[in-house]
Amino acid sequence: MSAAPTGVAVVGTGYWGPALVRNFAALPAAQVLHLIDRDLERARSVRDRLVPEAGAHDDLQVALADPAVRAVAVATPAATHFDIASAALRAGKHTLVEKPLAMTVAQCHELERLAEVGGLVLMVGHVFRFNVAVERIKQYVDSGDLGAIHYVHSRRVNLGRVQADINALWSFAPHDFSIVNYWMGAEPLTVAARGFAYIQKGVEDVIFCTVEYPGGRGAHLHISWLDPRKVREMTVVGSRRMAVFDDISNDAKVRLYDSSVSTSPAPPESFADWQVDIRHGEVSIPRLGWVEPLRAELDHFLSCVRDGIPCRTPGAQGRAITEAIVAAQESLKRGGVAVPLSEIR
Ligand SMILES: NC(=O)c1ccc[n+]([C@@H]2O[C@H](COP(=O)([O-])OP(=O)(O)OC[C@H]3O[C@@H](n4cnc5c(N)ncnc54)[C@H](O)[C@@H]3O)[C@@H](O)[C@H]2O)c1
Repeated sequence: MSAAPTGVAVVGTGYWGPALVRNFAALPAAQVLHLIDRDLERARSVRDRLVPEAGAHDDLQVALADPAVRAVAVATPAATHFDIASAALRAGKHTLVEKPLAMTVAQCHELERLAEVGGLVLMVGHVFRFNVAVERIKQYVDSGDLGAIHYVHSRRVNLGRVQADINALWSFAPHDFSIVNYWMGAEPLTVAARGFAYIQKGVEDVIFCTVEYPGGRGAHLHISWLDPRKVREMTVVGSRRMAVFDDISNDAKVRLYDSSVSTSPAPPESFADWQVDIRHGEVSIPRLGWVEPLRAELDHFLSCVRDGIPCRTPGAQGRAITEAIVAAQESLKRGGVAVPLSEIR
């Protein structure tokens, strides 16, 4: 293992890019060498504030031509991800792309191919996969603590940041699908979505998405940037127990409800014999050692680059999320019919 830090370039210094820069700068395994933004003043101001030794440019080629840059992190608008990530991979740079990996399935395949051919890491920034609360619920699922998973319900709503280039689905749903796919250990079979646009014509502000997973399991996602309250709450209902992930909470991100409903095992002879056992059990709040998810994500990316460890959020996973969102987008267009993922792939 080389002791020298990995040279990194960050592309995009708008809202999210500076969070990447700040976290890379705090990791000894990384050295931020260049910041790129088509708005040069913005790149310079983030550089001056966070990494004064780095270069600031409006031309990506400066970073791609620098042999000291081994890795590129892309935090530009979703529609630009493919062009920037493919240029980085073609230049032989390990590449971390913010979610969503790309906006078409074909583009995702091409990025995967470029990474494969170049022997490069292609990672997508599914930051919730590095969240200890998400991981704790995954442990409950895999250990059987919750029993058989019935369904997940998610609310990811707040007021703003309203985007013009993508709807709320593309902005928020990568998080939901990356979490729910992980908990379910599967990709959706079908996705149905209805959405409504109030602020800008044709750009849905609120989306209600119903997702079918193998084994009769379901998920419902309520996504909106037009809601008075910031809510980040996901409920997992299992046959034995239930869990709630509240990402806004400081002291109770995960609550485990020892609650369930069961019925008489054999088909009843008559309605009078039918037993429904409703169990309201204890609620427990596990202690979680908190680590900033973005810090953990970037640390993992650097380990993948330096040590070649398997990536937890590789290009293929980014493609699966893009497939689900493309299916949801198609369903929006068709008035909410359930779109099979097999049609999208
Ligand atoms: N993981 C998360 O929780 C999270 C949160 C917010 C945003 N994001 C992701 O980060 C990315 C950026 O989002 P944002 O909210 O920071 O957007 P933003 O619009 O605030 O910033 C984007 C920046 O990219 C620059 N830019 C645009 N096109 C460019 C190009 N071709 N070359 C170089 N620079 C270019 C813009 O000038 C701007 O400064 C998106 O992919 C978004 O999904 C992730």
